[in-house]
Amino acid sequence: MERTEIGELNARFAGSRPEEVIAYFVERYGDRIALSSSLGLEDQVLTDMVCRAAKRPRIFTLDTGRLFPETYSLIDRTNMHYGIRIAVYFPERQAVEQLVSECGMNCFYESIELRKRCCQVRKLEPLKRAFEGLEVWICGLRREQSVTREHMQLVEWDEAHGLVKLNPLIGWHEEEVWNYIREHHVPYNKLHDKGFPSIGCQPCTRAVEPGADIRSGRWWWESPDHRECGLHKH
Ligand code: ADX
Ligand code: SF4
Repeated sequence: MERTEIGELNARFAGSRPEEVIAYFVERYGDRIALSSSLGLEDQVLTDMVCRAAKRPRIFTLDTGRLFPETYSLIDRTNMHYGIRIAVYFPERQAVEQLVSECGMNCFYESIELRKRCCQVRKLEPLKRAFEGLEVWICGLRREQSVTREHMQLVEWDEAHGLVKLNPLIGWHEEEVWNYIREHHVPYNKLHDKGFPSIGCQPCTRAVEPGADIRSGRWWWESPDHRECGLHKH
């Protein structure tokens, strides 16, 4: 895709349903497009949509080694439900060994630098490998999720990773996500019913009070404008 086409696609699909956007991109990119799923609520909606649109849906997840047991169960439940195999990417063994032996098992609480180093080893390096052969990655970002996301677009050129990023749910509100989940009986993480609106690694995610900012339980010890793991630079 030419970089200049991105603006045209955003104009063309402004107001379109996510299903229409996904159908267009899946048809156009075939096996060069994949959904990057954290098994979060938005990603489960997108899994359902991608499975309806594609004959051989390509979905991958980054297993940091620190996910919740509920998330691991959901990978299996989702595979069973849709008859798919979510590709699972692990971090490099040597890099994890070096990180934990040099800095400790839970070094992410000590400083932003160490937290970013852990995310680099456990998420960003594996993501690079997951991108092999891809031209477009689909993500579950929504503008209302955080201050760091309010300027994001449906289609973006992802400068940091050198490919196109598609955010089909970018304009959706939380209620629309839940309505889709219920209407289509989509499997979802049981932690969402226990006060976890946004779920990442277990040591870096906690429950929040009803009505609290949806990402306030992620890296809660850092200030809101830092709370990104580096997957989504803008
Ligand atoms: S993030 O800060 O962890 O990136 P969030 O949990 O809100 O934020 O996820 C945003 C999007 O990033 C997800 O919808 C998904 O597309 C992608 N993503 C996040 N974590 C993972 C993961 N572990 N594996 C694959 N994709 C992920
Ligand atoms: Fe490490 Fe926490 Fe980042 Fe997971 S979210 S990779 S545990 S710092």
